[in-house]
Amino acid sequence: DECDSLRRALLSWYAHHKRELPWRDIGDPYAVWVSEIMLQQTQVATVIDYYHRWLERFPTVEDLARAEREDVMELWAGLGYYRRARFLHESAAVVVDEMGGEVPRTVKQLKSLKGIGPYTAGAIASIAFDEPVPVVDGNVERVLSRLRAISGDPKATANQKLYWALAGDLVDPDAPGDFNQAMMELGATICTPQSPTCMLCPVREHCIAFAEGEPTEYPATAKR
Ligand code: ADE
Repeated sequence: DECDSLRRALLSWYAHHKRELPWRDIGDPYAVWVSEIMLQQTQVATVIDYYHRWLERFPTVEDLARAEREDVMELWAGLGYYRRARFLHESAAVVVDEMGGEVPRTVKQLKSLKGIGPYTAGAIASIAFDEPVPVVDGNVERVLSRLRAISGDPKATANQKLYWALAGDLVDPDAPGDFNQAMMELGATICTPQSPTCMLCPVREHCIAFAEGEPTEYPATAKR
């Protein structure tokens, strides 16, 4: 059906065109966690070096849990939003002290950790544990709003519910981690805010905004 065809097209595009990034296809839940926290407010190009240094210094969740606060903050210096580093450090200690040293596998357990909200929980559960759960970030919001011609403020509660529900329906149960990363990758490289390159888009045949001819009409942006 329509949904299967969209999944196949997106996953095939991702397999051929994804950027080779150090946190891709590694399968270590701790490394996925670190990468997703860093990527929340920081560009991919900046994250790469920090990610390598971090995993060299703190290769496992135990190493991070045992580290001194000041060493952790020193390694984060320059990335900004320092609360992310403090929460990552505190949550590593919780994983080691209260969860047997195993990063939790489900969205619900993951969200019990400081610094892990719906986005990061979905990313870790799907990418590291193959849980068929959605993730919605700014890139995914834009892709979905164009695919389904969703108007209105993307941050409004009703639209957030809609995006999470749509992403939950779309996510491929056989490849949730790749599917979610493919949606983010599409938003980052093809379905960009100002000048989407629809001619290169693997899912343009499924896209209402493309059919309407003005993809940048979505999502609505704040009036100035
Ligand atoms: N942005 C944040 N996490 C990402 C991921 N895993 N793939 C692509 N873009 C991302």
